[in-house]
Amino acid sequence: MRPDPFLIPRFNFDYTLTDFSTSIKSIFKEECDLEALHSTFGQKDFFFTNYGRTALYVILKSLNLPPKSKIGVPLYCCTVVFDAIINAGHTPRFIDINDNYTMDPEDLKNKVDELSALVVIHTFGRPAEMDKIKKIAGKLPLIEDCSHSLLSEYKGKITGTIGDMAIFSLAKYLSAGGGGLLVVNNRSFTKNIRKEMGLLNKPPVSDEFKHASIAYMRALFYHKPWFGLVGLPVGLMLENKVDLMTKKSSEMTAEYKAYTGVTSKKLRDFRDKVEIQRKNSFFLLDELKDSSLFLPFEGKNVYCNYYLFPLTVKNRDEVSTYLRKQSVDTTKLFSLTPKIAKHNYGYAGDCPFTEAISDTIITIPNHYTLHQTGLKKIAAAVKCCPYID
Ligand SMILES: Cc1ncc(COP(=O)(O)O)c(C=O)c1O
Repeated sequence: MRPDPFLIPRFNFDYTLTDFSTSIKSIFKEECDLEALHSTFGQKDFFFTNYGRTALYVILKSLNLPPKSKIGVPLYCCTVVFDAIINAGHTPRFIDINDNYTMDPEDLKNKVDELSALVVIHTFGRPAEMDKIKKIAGKLPLIEDCSHSLLSEYKGKITGTIGDMAIFSLAKYLSAGGGGLLVVNNRSFTKNIRKEMGLLNKPPVSDEFKHASIAYMRALFYHKPWFGLVGLPVGLMLENKVDLMTKKSSEMTAEYKAYTGVTSKKLRDFRDKVEIQRKNSFFLLDELKDSSLFLPFEGKNVYCNYYLFPLTVKNRDEVSTYLRKQSVDTTKLFSLTPKIAKHNYGYAGDCPFTEAISDTIITIPNHYTLHQTGLKKIAAAVKCCPYID
């Protein structure tokens, strides 16, 4: 690819030098301040892990299900979620999605009798249809994956407080650098979770330093001008060398203290950033409303944090290449998941809508850090794209 200092990055890793400094100070603090978590989620039980996937592993282990129990999970997600299920000794049972990009209650109905627990994902920050899903799930332990949905709401309830338990990935929207958060709503699960948490190793201080330094460098290369000059060209080179069909396991540990302090600090005013990102998304929606594109919509009684802005396009490769030439980078999020799941996780081909979405998805930048000129550039590039009818 041609180096481009003006390229707008696909993701917003807003982990600043101040955040890095907060991280380093937190490593030496004894206690984490939970006030921001309590004021966001209410009086729940909270546990921190090194990743969101570790939090899911801990939850599944704590359920003490028989080995190889089937855990319902949308096929449309990151494969590390499937790894967490397998590492806990179980088997993913794939459920299709609907045009909200989240679990299809109709497909769940067909498969629910086989399941021992259910993982619902509020993909791209879009709350899943929780009333319908809860009704179908009945007494199954219900786990919300809120890795994308920090501060999204469903019928006035913040996501992560609707099911029995929830996981969050703090490296994503919040840009805390890294880390996972486990929230327990149904406190009958707390005792077993505490026991499982006690079995995780604590990362050494040297790892905390290393991790936070890498997070800062990564964030730096996700900003202009470095993203288009170095970050993406190097990323694309490495991407071609990675064998996606080989499973890799990441180490599962308790929290990096480096990230708990940043999480508490950033959570206090994160609603303001979400509001800006919503405004940016509404601007893009308005600009693109006369196109033939399938645009994201906000359902009734739902508050979407617009973590990501998805579009589906037929000629995806041509569209993303064209947009990159216009200095707009995009993702093809989870586009390889069905293929990898067939190869590695026993996916039997019964999620046709997910497969169709995976072949056509792109996400365009809508970050709260973008200014009006950037947003106008993104809208103009999409509107002028000759590969979109
Ligand atoms: C929907 C979803 N859930 C969970 C995860 C795992 O988060 P983490 O990287 O913190 O383990 C991801 C990661 O990409 C994700 O997209």
